[in-house]
Amino acid sequence: MIGDNIITFEKITSTNDFVKENISNLQNETIVVSGVQTKGRGRSNHTWHSDEGNLYVSILLKDTDIEPFEHVINASVSLIRLLEKYNLEPVIKYPNDILIGHQKIAGILIERVISNQIDCVVGIGLNVNQVQFNMLGDKATSMKKRSGNRYDLDIVLSDLIKIYNEVLRKDLNSAFTDYKRLSYVIGKYVDFNHNRYIIKDVE
Ligand code: BTN
Repeated sequence: MIGDNIITFEKITSTNDFVKENISNLQNETIVVSGVQTKGRGRSNHTWHSDEGNLYVSILLKDTDIEPFEHVINASVSLIRLLEKYNLEPVIKYPNDILIGHQKIAGILIERVISNQIDCVVGIGLNVNQVQFNMLGDKATSMKKRSGNRYDLDIVLSDLIKIYNEVLRKDLNSAFTDYKRLSYVIGKYVDFNHNRYIIKDVE
């Protein structure tokens, strides 16, 4: 089960980098968590600002032959169910941003390491207690910003682990149904080639 092995740092460059650099010594389903990241990375080579107060987690899934998008669904749906448990109302912005009220509350960075097998590092950044987002301004939010409450990071992490295990052990269809239910793009209009379309589904 994920969470049987948890490696915790107060500060590290990036939990995803740590997992990738030490992959051969780490057991399947190990979790690496850090209080702060000095070189947190987001998708498309963006920096993921990683101040104290939030969750920075990487989950190692070894020898996995499932599609990268399946990992995206599992991680997104786990985050959604976690936030709903805390009475927040998140949506998924395709493919893997988690928003509340049009502001980003969590991001997912999935990286594959290919040797004679395919290993996958699922990196999750969840804004929990941060309330000032200087560089990002109004684009970001956190659980505390939404509810006014301060959260115990250990409890949020253990809830995330529990939910993630449930999602991994259930069939993909049930996760995908949730993914679509909460998809921010479904029902939205997109402009393409001077035409306006409505997105009805993602597959
Ligand atoms: C994104 O939305 O661009 C993805 C952000 C992913 C951030 C997490 S924090 C834990 C893990 N370690 C990293 O360096 N990045 C991911």
